[in-house]
Amino acid sequence: MATYETLLVERREGGVTLITLNRPQALNALNNQVLGELVAAAQAFDADPSQGCAVLTGSEKAFAAGADIKEMQPQSFGDMYGDNYFAGWEMFTRTRKPVIAAVAGFALGGGCELAMMCDFILAADTAKFGQPEIKLGVAPGMGGSQRLTRAVGKAKAMEMCLTGRFMDAAEAERAGLVSRVIPAAELVDEAIKVATQIAGMAPLAVKANKEMVNAAFETMLGQGVQFERRLFHGLFGTEDQKEGMTAFVEKRQGTWKGK
Ligand code: CAA
Repeated sequence: MATYETLLVERREGGVTLITLNRPQALNALNNQVLGELVAAAQAFDADPSQGCAVLTGSEKAFAAGADIKEMQPQSFGDMYGDNYFAGWEMFTRTRKPVIAAVAGFALGGGCELAMMCDFILAADTAKFGQPEIKLGVAPGMGGSQRLTRAVGKAKAMEMCLTGRFMDAAEAERAGLVSRVIPAAELVDEAIKVATQIAGMAPLAVKANKEMVNAAFETMLGQGVQFERRLFHGLFGTEDQKEGMTAFVEKRQGTWKGK
């Protein structure tokens, strides 16, 4: 397995990949090296048939404190536009298997945006989410204005982007940004437990469920429902559907083939 300078990657039992952001000196600020390594690690996870679900986490203090301000500070419009800076992050969102963000401490700017690129967020009670780019004279650039608005609605997203105010874990759960809040000491274990559960599900059904929920984010309702229906119909061509429903009728656990 590849090794990285800014990440720790472990394969856990049960088909779970744990990816830990590891730039403690910069509170896991996301520079070009982190981007390249994270995309490589996500693609390796996605391509490995023994792996079913990934967990992305940071440190106790920071999931990630943003895009790397020191890397961006000297850049001009021409540099940013010419290089299509941040465009590589779209590749991180293209894994077909689920990635859970386990967030403790600061998830700010690009850190909040990276958490939102994952399929869902489990938050420690210490988590703080924010889009403070306005305080640097800029705005979100990794999808935050779009994903935050869809996650928490216009009022909260607009207030957070315009003032840079942080949201704590309890508010993030009320607003629907995170699926659950967990005591910080238990965060990673709980995320691995959930990931193990997902990795044990029928692999094609996992991909189909991820794809159809994402369609709700990316399409209008009518198109989204149609997309869901076609994928749902398609799952009836799999052996795992036969096995799953037969196992229910026979009152036993199903076993999955990924076919
Ligand atoms: N980029 C680069 N370095 C960063 C960083 C970032 N986003 N966030 C923190 N660091 C560095 C600090 O510069 C500091 O380094 P030095 O020791 O070399 O000075 C180190 O990490 C520790 O940080 P602090 O001393 O500031 O720690 P703190 O506990 O006092 O404060 C904090 C923590 C409130 C998170 C503070 O670090 C902070 O405000 N960070 C910046 C948050 C931010 O503005 N994020 C948005 C970035 S822009 C963006 O993300 C654009 C986008 O849309 C993608």
